[in-house]
Amino acid sequence: MSAIIQLENLHKYYRVGKERYLVLKSLNLTIDSGEFVMIMGKSGSGKTTLLNVLAFLDKFERGEYIFNGENVSNLNENQRSDFRNKNIGFVFQQFNLIETLNIYQNIELPLMYDGSLKKSDREKLVKDKLEAVGLIDKLKQFPLQLSGGQQQRVAIARSLVNNPQLIFADEPTGALDSETSAEIMNILKELNKQGKTIIMVTHDEDLIKYATKVIKLKDGVLSLEV
Ligand SMILES: Nc1ncnc2c1ncn2[C@@H]1O[C@H](COP(=O)(O)OP(=O)(O)O)[C@@H](O)[C@H]1O
Ligand SMILES: [Mg+2]
Repeated sequence: MSAIIQLENLHKYYRVGKERYLVLKSLNLTIDSGEFVMIMGKSGSGKTTLLNVLAFLDKFERGEYIFNGENVSNLNENQRSDFRNKNIGFVFQQFNLIETLNIYQNIELPLMYDGSLKKSDREKLVKDKLEAVGLIDKLKQFPLQLSGGQQQRVAIARSLVNNPQLIFADEPTGALDSETSAEIMNILKELNKQGKTIIMVTHDEDLIKYATKVIKLKDGVLSLEV
């Protein structure tokens, strides 16, 4: 297996007023292509911050981030958004669907930034992903007409539509009951089997069984479990 993500001595600070404080402390980490990684740790330990840095949503101040062998430590905002659009899908705890767009339009949205795709190409991709999460019959409905579990499946379809190698999920089961959580985990597991690398934050110790690697964060310091 080859490394998709390597961090060397990564430090990230937050600035609050005039003060600056260290939130990720000298992280070293390798994630191979095809892994299913769980990031665990108490609230405030830096899990979301780490995910945002890895997913090119946020920058950091010190250390190196090597992505697919390329040093991406010093990207500007435009370059970060290019990397994000090409390589990353993101799933959130609260689904983050747009309530005024129907299911089809929500999934199509990430494709609208690529001006080269024809409407018929977009339609094929959107329907393909809706089939994959078992919601093809819901395409004309609106997010609030669906259950939480169904909304999260739509969010997963949206995260897949650009065909990213990596899926990041920040507590994707945090707003769901245990039965619905298991459905979502099975979809993620299936995607992982199909070759997607998955990096997920959770509080739920019961979900460790899905992981190939478990990372613990404590006050911004990382340790490896598996
Ligand atoms: N935008 C921000 N500005 C300043 N401090 C922040 C910001 N986001 C998070 N923090 C702080 O950084 C620490 C880590 O937060 P976070 O990564 O959200 O933790 P977790 O996801 O593990 O709960 C916390 O102390 C939090 O209050
Ligand atoms: Mg968080």
